[in-house]
Amino acid sequence: MSVIILAAGQGTRMRSNLPKVLHKLAGRTLLEHVHTAAAPLAARTVHIVYGHGGEQVPERLAHLPASWVLQVEQLGTGHAVKQAMPGIPDTDLVLILYGDVPLIAAGTLVTLVKSASASGFALLTARLADPFGYGRIIRDAAGRILRIKEEKDANDAERRIDEINTGLMCLRGDWLNKWLSRLTTNNAQGEYYLTDVIAMAVGEGIEIATVSPGHVTEVQGVNTRAQLAELERYYQLRQARTLMDRGVTFADPARFDLRGDLVTGTDVVIDVNVVIEGRVLMGSDVTIGPNCLIRDCEIGDGVEIFANCVIEDAIIGKRCRIGPFSRIRPGTKLATEVHVGNFVEIKNSSIGDASKANHLSYVGDSEVGRNVNIGAGTITCNYDGANKHKTIIEDDVHIGSDTQLVAPVRVGRGVTIGAGATITRDVEPEVLIHNRMERRIVKGWKRPVKVKKGRE
Ligand code: UD1
Ligand code: CA
Repeated sequence: MSVIILAAGQGTRMRSNLPKVLHKLAGRTLLEHVHTAAAPLAARTVHIVYGHGGEQVPERLAHLPASWVLQVEQLGTGHAVKQAMPGIPDTDLVLILYGDVPLIAAGTLVTLVKSASASGFALLTARLADPFGYGRIIRDAAGRILRIKEEKDANDAERRIDEINTGLMCLRGDWLNKWLSRLTTNNAQGEYYLTDVIAMAVGEGIEIATVSPGHVTEVQGVNTRAQLAELERYYQLRQARTLMDRGVTFADPARFDLRGDLVTGTDVVIDVNVVIEGRVLMGSDVTIGPNCLIRDCEIGDGVEIFANCVIEDAIIGKRCRIGPFSRIRPGTKLATEVHVGNFVEIKNSSIGDASKANHLSYVGDSEVGRNVNIGAGTITCNYDGANKHKTIIEDDVHIGSDTQLVAPVRVGRGVTIGAGATITRDVEPEVLIHNRMERRIVKGWKRPVKVKKGRE
């Protein structure tokens, strides 16, 4: 079988410079959602018909396995499908999807294709409380489909029908080819309506099978930003429910956003306003405080992340404690039981077991050993204005507050650094280093007095 995704519509009501199908739902473009839903069908080819915004769509989504078909002018859904037909063998079943109907479920598509392989033609229809704007399904007294009437072409009685055309259908390629060539623009919108093929099929005595979606949101299109927001909330709640089924507790499932994939162990607790992006793996007994952003991370068992942390592209070992207000940047690897406290930034560094940086530090491009204590206000000066350099801090080092480590530099095992030092050269193991002078106490000190002028 072959798939055609129609994605050439203008999307005027989005009021956007971005083509509609490139708008995002849960961090992925609408078109990617549709493409993903079709993936289990293992189609020969997925043809994507694009138009408005020109090359932006295939450029931005070049990673999708698809054949890109340009529809230069948007002359209607029938015309759009026709553009893709030269790439489809007559013997294939053709599944037609919409790029702006993002939540269609793979299972529904499987049912639709199965039904079409039995009957030759299957249509996805739904009953809507408010069918306004949709094409209506006209059936005869025996319940057989006769035709589809577009809202703008329908009479009052037809407009009262609540069974609508979702636009999604699957049918034999040879039939589709034949009927597409007979379409006309003889209708209220002066377009080539794909929906006219229904009456043509009926005219040839073909019985069209219908399938309905598991849930109406599957067939809801995105025409406005309000509709997009509505689908986003629905989708997020559904993801939260799935996670709850897998053992995650949410303080409020309505205040959680997953824009990617989250795999968790059991007894994960997530507080409000947590955003997860990309691919995140969490072990068991992990707790995430409110207002955290976590992107592309691996988080070990028993980790506690307190409020307001941003953690990106990092590996967090078991039982680490992070935050509140920590920023963990890409390339960070924390071993087990590491503590990272408030206003600490760590970038491209590895920190060994049980080491701590609890307050106001910057650790960048560093290798930190085990049981290291990094005092408040300590920073690695990793950048000389042109190049980045490495800082190595060996096991059991104790660094006093407000220390600057000017990289490249190595601090040997067991070193103690007194507060306020600037370390510019390597330090040998097991020494105490400080760069303060001894305190001088001058007894009976007299402050200078002002010299009076005009007297000798
Ligand atoms: C279409 C159906 C209608 C159905 C509704 C479901 C027709 C004639 N009508 O109406 O029965 O109830 O969808 O949402 O098919 N597109 C192109 N090129 C074009 C025109 C459209 O790629 O020249 C794409 C759009 O990007 C969109 C889809 O086809 O993804 C549907 O087009 P749209 O204009 O929204 O169709 P409707 O008038 O809503
Ligand atoms: Ca539409």
